[in-house]
Amino acid sequence: MNNIVSAYLKDHAAMVTKAGPELIKKFTGCHPRLIEAMLYSYTAGGKRLRPSMMYASYEVFGGKAEDITPAAVALEMLQTYSLIHDDLPCMDNDDLRRGKPTSHKVFGEANALLAGDALAIDPFTVLLNSEYPEKVKVHLCRAAGILARRAGAQGMISGQFLDKESEGFLLNPQNMSIDDLRKEGLRRLEYIQLHKTADLFMMATEIGTVLAGAPEEDFRLMSEYGLETGLCLQISDDILDVTADRKKLGKSSNDAEMGKLTYVTLFGLDGAREHLDKHYKAALAAIAKVKGDAKLKEILSGIAEYICVRDL
Ligand code: IPE
Ligand code: IPE
Ligand code: MG
Ligand code: MG
Ligand code: MG
Repeated sequence: MNNIVSAYLKDHAAMVTKAGPELIKKFTGCHPRLIEAMLYSYTAGGKRLRPSMMYASYEVFGGKAEDITPAAVALEMLQTYSLIHDDLPCMDNDDLRRGKPTSHKVFGEANALLAGDALAIDPFTVLLNSEYPEKVKVHLCRAAGILARRAGAQGMISGQFLDKESEGFLLNPQNMSIDDLRKEGLRRLEYIQLHKTADLFMMATEIGTVLAGAPEEDFRLMSEYGLETGLCLQISDDILDVTADRKKLGKSSNDAEMGKLTYVTLFGLDGAREHLDKHYKAALAAIAKVKGDAKLKEILSGIAEYICVRDL
């Protein structure tokens, strides 16, 4: 990864890592153990790719990142909730996340569920009840609509739903022909990954673009860039699930053992890499057409590249 991109990611990750606990600690009347569980997972690490992409999607249209920190924190809270719930015994049953014991291992299943609930609802508290410059404030209502839609039943949750329903699909209980199994597998996979993962990336780029007041044509292109990078993140996650050092990944469950439908379990590693490359190129093509700051466009392209070549 080039130095400018890695510095951008590092600096902007640090902004949401610092601001998240500050904003959450302003909440009043909460149960202290609940706040402890929320902060445990929020501060456990993580690449902070989605908030960094929100910042870059705002800055590419001339904004200054610090204007929108509460929106970036709101998105990372949602990401953290999605991971806490994804790791629960009834979901992927993972013992490790971001290199640390998962929330339910530390706080118990009920408390982990509730910490996840709070991190799903309170992004709205943080997004809508924080201070912003006037030029940002006027776009908050549309931003909240995007947050709700991309996270809810029309977004991430339906992706998680079909991901769970498709466990064991490749055991082929319906005895489909190999061709039909591949066709139906790909149809499901596209739906799963669009929603469980790409929706939060589209949320990042769409909210950044909306808060900057950019034109609708750029909104469309940034949304497409978010979609394509989100698919790259999930396909590379599927690849890393078999190729990476689990310790480095900081998680313990295994897609093949869970019977998950992924690009690797359906098409093998080479097939998965071909799909990854196709979506990477589509992400670059979208960003190239955006009418924005050239340096930030390079950073956005560099983030897409990093997502494809990363090793954690
Ligand atoms: C993990 O996302 C969940 C997936 C959608 C695969 P990341 O790989 O961005 O995880 P963190 O936030 O950096 O821990
Ligand atoms: C998770 O996908 C997507 C979410 C909505 C959290 P995975 O189940 O593949 O993510 P990891 O591998 O546990 O991070
Ligand atoms: Mg999962
Ligand atoms: Mg998982
Ligand atoms: Mg995974």
